[in-house]
Amino acid sequence: MTPLTNGDTMRPAILVTGGAGYIGSHTVITLLEREEEYSNYDIVVVDNLSNAYNRAPNEKKPESLRVIEDLTNKNLHFYPLDIRDAEGLSRVFENHNIDCVIHFAALKAVGESVDKPLEYYQANITGTGTLLEVMRKYGVYKLIYSSSCTVYGEPERLPLDEGHPTGRTLTSPYGRSKYFCEEMMKDLCTSDKNWMVISLRYFNPVGAHISGRIGEDPSGIPNNLMPYIAQVAIGRLNELKVFGNDYKTSDGTGVRDYIHVVDLAEGHVKAIKLFQQHGFGGFHAINLGTGTGYSVLEMISAFERASGRKVPYKIVGRRSGDIAANYADVSLSHRLLGWRAIRTLDDMCKDTWRWQSANPNGFKKV
Ligand code: NAD
Ligand code: UFG
Repeated sequence: MTPLTNGDTMRPAILVTGGAGYIGSHTVITLLEREEEYSNYDIVVVDNLSNAYNRAPNEKKPESLRVIEDLTNKNLHFYPLDIRDAEGLSRVFENHNIDCVIHFAALKAVGESVDKPLEYYQANITGTGTLLEVMRKYGVYKLIYSSSCTVYGEPERLPLDEGHPTGRTLTSPYGRSKYFCEEMMKDLCTSDKNWMVISLRYFNPVGAHISGRIGEDPSGIPNNLMPYIAQVAIGRLNELKVFGNDYKTSDGTGVRDYIHVVDLAEGHVKAIKLFQQHGFGGFHAINLGTGTGYSVLEMISAFERASGRKVPYKIVGRRSGDIAANYADVSLSHRLLGWRAIRTLDDMCKDTWRWQSANPNGFKKV
């Protein structure tokens, strides 16, 4: 076990909420792999396991984190905890010298949020509020927040730059919860100049770690395109339903800015570095995307090429709440973070396929 203390001083720690989930686990492994930069940091994960697989109730760590420890040969600290549990969170801040927080923990299924708005507002807004309160109590003011291009709603212009209005035409409680959290954090940064908040607005994260041992593991039928395609390719699902081919796009199907999850994770690592810059206070929203959009049909072809499998599909009606197209203006991320996505669409598909074909049932081995 990595020692918690270094002489008499506690080692600095990065707290990752929701770190057992899809994007969180890829960020944790990316941090642990950055030996030269983060070897002096403890990585502390809190996750209530509502969307992360645990092999058995008595296992100390969920499967994603166990695999990460195995791949990196490093240890991390894990607390099975809900972020709304202020007392539990306080204990984590007592036990570690938290320097900054990366906040992934949230409920994220757009459709489910329409049926369960209270659960989404509770987990995402109350959860974030509780975390911010505990951070303030312990004098920890650096936060990286998982936001979404959803906050832009129906695009008024493309590509979507950070100055595009947010909060208008939002179609789901999930999207509104992300928008409200951003507004809450803006107000907090105005009220107290100690705060440094970087809200990373993700476009569409896909792909998996190059090892093929961690990846996206949706419970039930996937809502999102890439895991759905992967499950059709592996034979778990019969065919993909393409939601609409009458949009004003090149082939009529929806266009999105898909970004490799490891590129996304590296964006977080770059964001942490911004905290070290003198005078970098306040609230900053930054897009994380590639700047290029692909249609659903282009994604199917790319996946077929990468996997060598057919992906049968049929065109059905539009999915309610969907927009025709979005993709990011990525100039601010280049300028501020010195970061750009480097992995190609082929990498995204190959890495997804490596994970899916080696783990047809996700982390569950049965
Ligand atoms: P995920 O469900 O795989 O990971 C979220 C993790 O948080 C899970 O392990 C879950 O168990 C945990 N969690 C949920 N509620 C919690 C709570 N109250 N307390 C403690 N832990 C809790 O989701 P993901 O795709 O990794 O998304 C991570 C973040 O990124 C979320 O905030 C999501 O809204 C945001 N985001 C995701 C996408 C996407 O397409 N995946 C796009 C934009 C933004
Ligand atoms: N699509 C299909 N069939 C499917 C699933 C999706 O045709 O079975 C299409 C959609 O209509 C859309 C595209 O594939 O045109 C992408 O859909 P996703 O559900 O994969 O992604 P979204 O852009 O709708 O939304 C996702 C997440 C949100 C997040 C947003 C931006 O679900 O949480 O990306 O990051 F906010």
